Amino acid sequence: MARITIIGGGVIGLSIAFECRKRGHEITVVEAQRCGGQASGAAAGMLAPYSEIEEDPDDFFRLCQRSLQLFPEWQEEVKQHSEIDFEYNESGSLYCIYHEADRLSLETKQAWQQKFHVKSKLLTAEEVREKEPELSENVVAALWCPEEAHIYAPGYVAALLQACRSLGVRVVENAGEAKLENGDVVTKNERIESDEVVLAAGAWSMYWENELGCTLPIFPIRGQICAYEAPTLNHIIFTSQGYLVAKANGSVVAGASEDIADFDTNVTMHGIGRLEKWSKKVMPVLEKMEPFHKWAGLRPATQDGFPLIGRVVEKTGIILATGHYRNGILLSPITAKIVADEIDQIPQRIEIGQFNPNRFQSIQ
Ligand code: GLY
Repeated sequence: MARITIIGGGVIGLSIAFECRKRGHEITVVEAQRCGGQASGAAAGMLAPYSEIEEDPDDFFRLCQRSLQLFPEWQEEVKQHSEIDFEYNESGSLYCIYHEADRLSLETKQAWQQKFHVKSKLLTAEEVREKEPELSENVVAALWCPEEAHIYAPGYVAALLQACRSLGVRVVENAGEAKLENGDVVTKNERIESDEVVLAAGAWSMYWENELGCTLPIFPIRGQICAYEAPTLNHIIFTSQGYLVAKANGSVVAGASEDIADFDTNVTMHGIGRLEKWSKKVMPVLEKMEPFHKWAGLRPATQDGFPLIGRVVEKTGIILATGHYRNGILLSPITAKIVADEIDQIPQRIEIGQFNPNRFQSIQ
């Protein structure tokens, strides 16, 4: 049994706490403010790697795919331990195109994804509108990925927090600035003796560079989102410009901008205006509607686009689990299992070399 202190009470920190506690470790989560109060609670909750990853297959694609596959059982476990129900919808997705010229890239993506046993089908315009009558007539074709899903992120994070508490995880909220002293985490109120410290502070991770003595090239990218009270959609809708996802609470969420604004979580007229313009073209019924809710979250982006998951060489007892950028919710179960396996000295079940934090350290 190890004494593990997790810095950060977002979806990644809480998932690691949940998994490690189930395996019998003594866990403390230290959150500077309120658990789930930042990007995790603001996310649209897409579990959609097949639509969101444009590039060729690599270990990151496989990491996302494995995490998607873990979700059905994982979310069920969170529900059981928390006794909180939250929306998890295996809706599938439609990646829509509006120009014939885009068909080739859709077909190319489908071809390489099939090698990874991804279920998908290219639909004609008529088939798309049969599945989603509210979509614009301008749609030319779509790639249907029936395995993609979405989750209500605020509900998921609240349930994770409750599941952790039910299992006996100690959660310290409003801890403010904490420090590391001889391997222990020190807050304004206490010293937490720790065998392992896990940094899961999302976009705020870079503040730990000096304290941990390692390079953390992580910076915030704002994602602005808005929601309409609109007729429902049966699938997540993607286009090259963004996504629409209908939630069980009757909202249709449109996301998301990618802009650099330091740690500012305000929305801007430009950011929301772009989303409004785009979403109204995709779903004409939105034309006469105003979003009833607008908000923003800060994604933790990294220098090379990949997360940092694993031990830092020459820093005994320090594990990083940060920089998940657009995929924090999706990658929460697999990150939790990778970190728990690392602590339990169980060989990793998938290739994670690409996410090794030592790629940014001077000592390799
Ligand atoms: N994964 C969706 C987003 O980051 O906006």
